[in-house]
Amino acid sequence: MLIKTHRDGFMDRIPSEITPRAVYRDRRDLMRLMAGGVAGAALASWAGRQAQAQMPGKHAAIAAARSALPGAVAADKVTDFKDASSYNNYYEFGTDKADPAKNAHTLKTTPWTVEIEGLVKKPAKYTLDDLVKLSAQEERIYRLRCVEGWSMVIPWVGYSLGKLVEKVEPQSSAKYVEFISLADPKTMPFVGSRVLDWPYAEGLRIDEAMNPLTLLAFGMYGEVLPNQNGAPVRLVVPWKYGFKSAKSLVKIRFTDKEPRTAWSKAAASEYGFYSNVNPDVDHPRWSQATERRIGEDGLFSRKRKTLIFNGYEPQVGQLYAGMDLKKNF
Ligand code: MTE
Repeated sequence: MLIKTHRDGFMDRIPSEITPRAVYRDRRDLMRLMAGGVAGAALASWAGRQAQAQMPGKHAAIAAARSALPGAVAADKVTDFKDASSYNNYYEFGTDKADPAKNAHTLKTTPWTVEIEGLVKKPAKYTLDDLVKLSAQEERIYRLRCVEGWSMVIPWVGYSLGKLVEKVEPQSSAKYVEFISLADPKTMPFVGSRVLDWPYAEGLRIDEAMNPLTLLAFGMYGEVLPNQNGAPVRLVVPWKYGFKSAKSLVKIRFTDKEPRTAWSKAAASEYGFYSNVNPDVDHPRWSQATERRIGEDGLFSRKRKTLIFNGYEPQVGQLYAGMDLKKNF
């Protein structure tokens, strides 16, 4: 569990086992757990059983979870699982926030492979099982700030993407990493619609991809990811607008050129490659200075101030030293 430190205002880690979703549902229990620094049943025994129940013979290796990094803020309350899994953006399943939860049951997550290709010494096709087992799973409580002006606080389960990047050994010419989501018109009703250029694709600079905060996530709230949240494996990049966090990944490609992304193809003037959460750079059609926390704020409640890099500046600010973030938005 994460607690606030005096040193830098961020959370340091106290190892904990992962807390089952039922516990997250009860906020008072959660606060008690946070205060006491203890947690519920181990993910290994609990969510592992869940994973097996949902995906027989697969994916049981979401194992003992530890919060190994700073990155959550004490005042942040964890968003209810119900909100985090019913208010989603997953355009392959519809453009309304309620559509993914309604429609994503058709997503087939077994068998699943993720192909690593491009400028790496060890290109490979990983089965989900091999990917899950590649490194120890941790729980990370991260804020996710959507470009639309709302945010959530979610306990993700996964490991730093950097572990995978090291394993596949990028060539020295590799400067960027491209992330490609599944685009299956048979199971994804909106693939084929003209709302985006499919497959959904996103990209990071290689040093951003290797920053320890960048998470390859397999679960949330101690369970495997719900389909609408990007099962069976997605990216979570907490200092960037949520659209950088591509869901249901099938390909990770290393390149020497900045990849084009689904949103910049759709509207280059609105969605830049960097997409860092930045209250000082307005979206052309609205301000980014404030945000609404899903589940906490009523429609007429005061909004929160949005923080530069979503509050993760101590961890990632140095990645952009010397860059004009108004130009590189
Ligand atoms: N990934 C895919 N493949 N398709 C999408 O439409 N939407 C993005 C991102 N990843 C999206 C995606 C956007 S706009 C956001 S805000 C986050 O997913 C939302 O993640 P969540 O629904 O788990 O909160």
